[in-house]
Amino acid sequence: MAAPFPGTGKIWMNGSLVDWADANIHIASHVIHYGSGVFEGARCYDTPRGSACFRLDAHLNRLFDSAKIYRMEPQLSYAELHKAVMDTIKANDFKACYIRPLVYRGYHTLGVNPFPCPVDTAIMLWDWGTYLGQDALTNGVDVRVSSWSRAAPNTFPTLAKTSANYANSSLIKMEAVAEGYSEGIALDTLGYLSEGSGQNLFLVRNNVIYTPPVTASILPGITRDSVLAIARDHGFTVREEMLPREMLYIADEAFFVGTAVEITPIKSVDKITVGNGRRGPITEAIQQSFFDIINGRVPDKHGWLEYVYDGEPRETVGAGKGARAQR
Ligand SMILES: Cc1ncc(COP(=O)(O)O)c(C=O)c1O
Repeated sequence: MAAPFPGTGKIWMNGSLVDWADANIHIASHVIHYGSGVFEGARCYDTPRGSACFRLDAHLNRLFDSAKIYRMEPQLSYAELHKAVMDTIKANDFKACYIRPLVYRGYHTLGVNPFPCPVDTAIMLWDWGTYLGQDALTNGVDVRVSSWSRAAPNTFPTLAKTSANYANSSLIKMEAVAEGYSEGIALDTLGYLSEGSGQNLFLVRNNVIYTPPVTASILPGITRDSVLAIARDHGFTVREEMLPREMLYIADEAFFVGTAVEITPIKSVDKITVGNGRRGPITEAIQQSFFDIINGRVPDKHGWLEYVYDGEPRETVGAGKGARAQR
């Protein structure tokens, strides 16, 4: 069972840092009733050079894309939002944390038309360890193919990371957990592989790496994009293509990728063992490179790390807390 929030620290709301306990919105806010919010999930890591956000620019750009798809105009610019994230990390004295910016339709009226409602913004941070457990990173997880499909094209846009899409994710996750699995893998409405409830999917067969394309109702993950780059750095052949369900059963290796799960091997699907049931060599190589980058152990050749306290001595911003264990 996940640990509850400690209930302390500061949350950024529409330009002010407020105490966690006071970060409330009215029950009549549009987002609560109609899922009219878009959000991001990024991570800040504790590296030898100090705290570093992983690809925060890509996450914030996706947030603005999500808002655009939903005809929302955030009341602040990219630069202002970026500064607000950094200020919130410093105000909370975090060394490492999960970053959750949220742009949502607030309090005005409750017609389905969201336009009269203000577009509000909040940024919350918390210490979020390994999403599926430390053991999962090494030994992998057991998953099932969900009986729920991802949204069909031209229904709920999956390129937007919107609160509404997570109703579908919750159904996938609850079904999996209720039946003793760690996760579910959803198909798209044509029956092709799509993604997990909150993570993208990769398969390996005969030394070729496969992942479903953006047309398979996936969220285009930042980790997915990073893994594609890392795989190419290693010289692996990578294919983004529509994949039939049964590829899961005959894959040599399978793994999830995402900000929350990072890179987590899949050891079985529908009780069919994937490969030899252990983390495969390609999964391990990519996982190792990913963790080396995020933990600052190798040169950041892609420019993915953004240091929070660069130019500022850490003592002036506190000793820090929430440091994640080094892997
Ligand atoms: C549905 C879904 N797919 C994929 C991902 C992975 O995206 P990212 O790597 O940007 O975290 C997430 C995580 O946010 C997600 O919720």
